[in-house]
Amino acid sequence: MTTTPRPTPQDPPPARETLALDGVSVLFRTGSGRRRQQVTAADEVDLTLRPGTITALVGESGSGKSTLGRVACGLQPPSAGTVRLDGAPVSGPGLGGAVQMIFQNPAASLNPKMTVGRILGHAARQAGTGRALVRDVVSAALTEVGIDPPDRYLDRHPHELSGGQQQRVAIARALLHRPRFLVADEPTSALDVSVRVQIIDLLRDVQARHGTGILFITHDLSVVRAIADRVAVVYLGRIVESGTAGEVFGSPSHPYTKALLGSTPSLTAAAEDAELLRGEPANAVERPTGCHFHPRCPIAEQPRCADHDPAPIVLDGTHTARCHLAGPSLAVADSNPVEARRTS
Ligand SMILES: Nc1ncnc2c1ncn2[C@@H]1O[C@H](COP(=O)(O)OP(=O)(O)OP(=O)(O)O)[C@@H](O)[C@H]1O
Ligand code: SF4
Ligand SMILES: [Mg+2]
Repeated sequence: MTTTPRPTPQDPPPARETLALDGVSVLFRTGSGRRRQQVTAADEVDLTLRPGTITALVGESGSGKSTLGRVACGLQPPSAGTVRLDGAPVSGPGLGGAVQMIFQNPAASLNPKMTVGRILGHAARQAGTGRALVRDVVSAALTEVGIDPPDRYLDRHPHELSGGQQQRVAIARALLHRPRFLVADEPTSALDVSVRVQIIDLLRDVQARHGTGILFITHDLSVVRAIADRVAVVYLGRIVESGTAGEVFGSPSHPYTKALLGSTPSLTAAAEDAELLRGEPANAVERPTGCHFHPRCPIAEQPRCADHDPAPIVLDGTHTARCHLAGPSLAVADSNPVEARRTS
């Protein structure tokens, strides 16, 4: 058991081909006058995405996953910190075309007044395709995402497609920009269970075929288990544990991660002794002192956990956890869950 914070770890040193969030914080100011409040949606987050790698961002609702996804896509400017592409600071929507976002609700992300052909034709031209080639390029993109034969769909409007087909069109639109990275924010949660697997398989194909790096935001840990190379667990705007999927699922080391895994039975052997999450997440306006998880943590040591903010600790390889007691021997003590809270 490690009790002394070691130097800040995080992921391995930035490689040349990476999309990196460096010390990113996002503060939102809401209300006015006496009701003015500051929401800390992200707090000094370091996160590195690599080509050909699926990194899953998991955590409860309101933990800051979408905010971080929007920062990684240039749609949300950070209040502090930097987004770097291949080491150089970048900003603006799409970060110069390098990153595209896939949204949860494909119907809302496609212009209802435009046909599929026009939506994709517009994206192709934006990406620099010459007018004469647009139709061929759009047809090829539709075929690639499994909409076949493409000619049958070019004149349809989004409402004439199923949810799965709409999401395929949204993915085709993103691919037309030839992005190096995709941010997929709950891309399957609005879809029928029967088509979720197909969309996930499609994203895996994209990753394999084009070497695209994907930031996959989800509540569904069984999906993470199936597709993620790396996992980052977010709690109240901070990454509290990260590592390869094998590291995080094989030896979950933060009590919050253990509780999340415990809410998805039989995901890992290590989760069998885990508690379910108890209590409600604190809100991002008044985050608890010290370790933000301490009011819900079954093994909190007081006053230390309430008074001192734990630094991230390197456990093994790229596996890190932000807990005073994190270590290979971390065991979640017996206590009665006040309230079980599932994450999916
Ligand atoms: N534009 C905004 N203005 C004010 N507060 C915001 C804004 N966007 C997000 N927030 C707040 O920031 C925090 C993080 O929100 P975010 O949407 O990133 O969480 P999330 O993990 O994606 O949640 P969910 O799983 O429900 O999608 C929340 O407290 C949320 O209310
Ligand atoms: S630092 Fe303390 S309160 Fe926070 S997760 Fe670790 S044991 Fe629990
Ligand atoms: Mg979200």
